[in-house]
Amino acid sequence: MLLWIKAFHVIFMVTWFAGLFYLPRLLVYHTQVGPGAEHDRFCVMERKLYAIMTLGMILTWVFGIWMLTMLPGHMSQGWMHAKLALVVTLTGYHGWLKAHLRRFAAGTNTRSHVFWRWANEAPVLVLFGAVILVIVRPF
Ligand code: HEM
Repeated sequence: MLLWIKAFHVIFMVTWFAGLFYLPRLLVYHTQVGPGAEHDRFCVMERKLYAIMTLGMILTWVFGIWMLTMLPGHMSQGWMHAKLALVVTLTGYHGWLKAHLRRFAAGTNTRSHVFWRWANEAPVLVLFGAVILVIVRPF
């Protein structure tokens, strides 16, 4: 049973990350268009992608917490504390993206494409950290 839950945890984590990697990339291109049909098309793509990645995030949490209830000893491990800290930060980043999507939709984004290129790198760091913590368990 635990292995099934873990498999779904990883599947939904990949779904979440696909969106976390692609959404800021869409925003890089969105900064380069003015008002009009192209802008509207970007807004639709961003909204739909955000809905799918939010589902991925929720289910990653659900399956992760489900495993924690079966493995309570993990809650006293340093690697798990560090992983949860990274995941909470990532969840904050996810919500922060939503606030920016609203600004894009309202035409009030002030950030440049360079900013969004850098924002695109943040989930990469979390991915490296969380996967290394949970598999290598360095502390
Ligand atoms: C959302 C909150 C999360 C919780 C509560 C959580 C919790 C857990 C737990 C309890 C396990 C089982 C560890 C074991 O087998 O002993 C696990 C496995 C795993 N988690 Fe998460 N996790 C979360 C998010 C993430 C994220 C964001 C990633 C990737 C960046 C991730 C990657 C993994 C991987 C790759 C495994 C399998 C490790 C193995 O081979 O045993 N998790 N997670």
